[in-house]
Amino acid sequence: MKNLKEEEINPLSSLDVWEDDVVNRYPDPESIATSKTTEEYRQYDDPKRDTVKEFYRLNHTYQTFDFVQEKRQDFLSFKRKEMSIWEAFDFLNQLVDDSDPDTDLDQFQHLLQTSEAIRADGHPDWMVLTGLMHDMGKVLCLFGEPQWAVVGDTFPVGCAYSDKIVYPEFFKANPDFSNPLYNTRLGVYTEGCGLRNVHISWGHDEYVYQMMKDYLPEPALYMLRYHSFYAWHREGEYSYLLDDHDREMLKWVKLFNPYDLYSKNPVPPNWPELRSYYEGIIAKYLPPTLKF
Ligand SMILES: [Fe+2]
Ligand SMILES: [Fe+2]
Repeated sequence: MKNLKEEEINPLSSLDVWEDDVVNRYPDPESIATSKTTEEYRQYDDPKRDTVKEFYRLNHTYQTFDFVQEKRQDFLSFKRKEMSIWEAFDFLNQLVDDSDPDTDLDQFQHLLQTSEAIRADGHPDWMVLTGLMHDMGKVLCLFGEPQWAVVGDTFPVGCAYSDKIVYPEFFKANPDFSNPLYNTRLGVYTEGCGLRNVHISWGHDEYVYQMMKDYLPEPALYMLRYHSFYAWHREGEYSYLLDDHDREMLKWVKLFNPYDLYSKNPVPPNWPELRSYYEGIIAKYLPPTLKF
């Protein structure tokens, strides 16, 4: 990858700006982005919207099939760091931002609010733990990765892009858009091959999935791996790549999404009271240290 300028690495004032924007796009748990709401959404006059647009321009331009292979090779060898879960949360919390008044809560608070909302609804402990771990992959930013290679809606690479992906017009600048290997409906894939055989744009979802794949049950792994794949779980796109197992697992990804999007609350959970519960489920499912 060529040398990027600072504004190409960090177009957003913080990663939360992307998530706030997703909530604007999907303001309630049932909604999908109809063309009308998409229009309204784009006309909304907000300086933050421009940074989000620039963020997607970079994301859609640079997330090529080859870029994804390169990042997988680099980061999925997990040779950078080994940390206990608690060290990992401290590390993740170095991702703070003081320029954005909306982000008073650190990354750990978002994880804890997600997991607490799941727990309050009586879901199994492995799903609570999934809520707690789901954004751990954002540590990629602390390894110097550009924001558009860490967050943002994810999408399959190696086949034609759905026009239901946010800002689809920016894909025209992606070299894969005009590559006949990659720009057909199926591209490098076969009909119904299953998402496990599909390369998804690189980011915090795939990274945390690979980190957790030996420790959590299958529905949890789908929640981790596809939580930013809105074109699939909200818009119903890419049905021709799915197999029966994906169709079966979709309900879990959909179940998880509202806890991620709508659990944000300015009041932080009472961590000292909660700590021993979380120590218990971490010890039950995860090894003493994780490799990054
Ligand atoms: Fe996430
Ligand atoms: Fe999240």
